Amino acid sequence: MKEKELEGIKKECCSCFKCSLGKTRKNVVFSDGNADAKILLIGEAPGADEDATGIPFVGRAGKLLTKLIEESGLSRQKDFYICNTVKCRPPENRVPTDEEKKICENYLINQIKTVNPKVIVLCGATSAKSFLGNKIKISEVRGKWYKLFDNIDATVIFHPSYLLRNHSELEGSPRWLTKQDLYKIKEFIK
Ligand code: URA
Repeated sequence: MKEKELEGIKKECCSCFKCSLGKTRKNVVFSDGNADAKILLIGEAPGADEDATGIPFVGRAGKLLTKLIEESGLSRQKDFYICNTVKCRPPENRVPTDEEKKICENYLINQIKTVNPKVIVLCGATSAKSFLGNKIKISEVRGKWYKLFDNIDATVIFHPSYLLRNHSELEGSPRWLTKQDLYKIKEFIK
């Protein structure tokens, strides 16, 4: 049932040329993971590897995200439904514009409503700004919990691209904080 609805939304995305990203994409990057998962994670936008494969978070940042997820005792394929704020790669991996995000927003909202997760994980500043407002600072909202769409719990984690530039795993470091966040998310969905 969910799969069928999601297939319908994906089909719409694949024929979408409402913004200029449609002209330069190789593939629409719709989702990965489990439509019945309790955790829905929203990243920023596809990069080159994602554009080439049509799968979110498969490049260097994605591999780090997967590693952190698995190290926290969660399964990427079983516990997560993974998608992005925009479904097509912005050229040169620039941050998607507010207009591009707005144009793509309905696809994302329909994905969220269909999956109906127990928790939404906003991964990185672009994703967090889409739901919490452009004024937020990622370091201030990370690890905090919110309610979205009236009643869905949501929390914020650092983007793995940021973690790729910050190698330390010492207590208090961004990687350490992200692990703590993932442990909390794991407890939350029990
Ligand atoms: N970064 C994202 O935000 N999403 C992806 O799918 C890949 C990298």
